[in-house]
Amino acid sequence: MPSVLIAQLSDPHLKLDDDTSQPALARAAEVVAAFKPDAVLLTGDIADTGDPEEHELATRLLAPIQAPVYTAAGNHDRFEGRHQYVADLDHLRLIVCDTSQPGRDDGALDLEWLEAQLVATTPTIIAMHHPPFELGITWLDEIGLPQHDRAALAALLDANRQVVRVVAGHVHRTAMATLGGCAIVTCTSTNIQAKLDFESPDAELVSEPPSVLLHALQSSGQVVTHVQPV
Ligand SMILES: [Fe+2]
Repeated sequence: MPSVLIAQLSDPHLKLDDDTSQPALARAAEVVAAFKPDAVLLTGDIADTGDPEEHELATRLLAPIQAPVYTAAGNHDRFEGRHQYVADLDHLRLIVCDTSQPGRDDGALDLEWLEAQLVATTPTIIAMHHPPFELGITWLDEIGLPQHDRAALAALLDANRQVVRVVAGHVHRTAMATLGGCAIVTCTSTNIQAKLDFESPDAELVSEPPSVLLHALQSSGQVVTHVQPV
């Protein structure tokens, strides 16, 4: 039995007028609710156009899960000001970074802010929309985080071993890597996935199965990430 269970959903890209994005998030919420998580983490691109009504829709569709919802800003979202904060759950610290930049699809990390939050020795999960590694999928890597941000984050993670996981979205696939000795994992979209294609420079989306991630803090202080298909 994990001492803390965080359910991660990502990139629902909710549209007010389509018949796939909304039922897709509702289905993911149903799957997550059954696990009774302590918290829900929605790693960005919650809205598709950034319309506040799309964000309200997300709140309604996630209501069946009896847990607080922590959101991260994606390149399709529009939050007022910088949307980054710390949430102290029991035995686990969640740091949510805002990697979005107004009017752009690529990301940027506020390393100075992040470093200032890394003061507690509590096991910590850092969440952000843009993953801090390249997938080898050209079009996604072109709208990722810049190399200098990734290098600076590597140094920060190396010096802060209390960070047990970095979690992200944006790439509409599950992928894993390490940075500064820390494991990084990305979550699929609740709706449409990115095709795994190492050759094409063009964006291609596919209707592969969605999944959610369940980050389970064990009594040992270790976090185990489960991939649960929806
Ligand atoms: Fe995105």
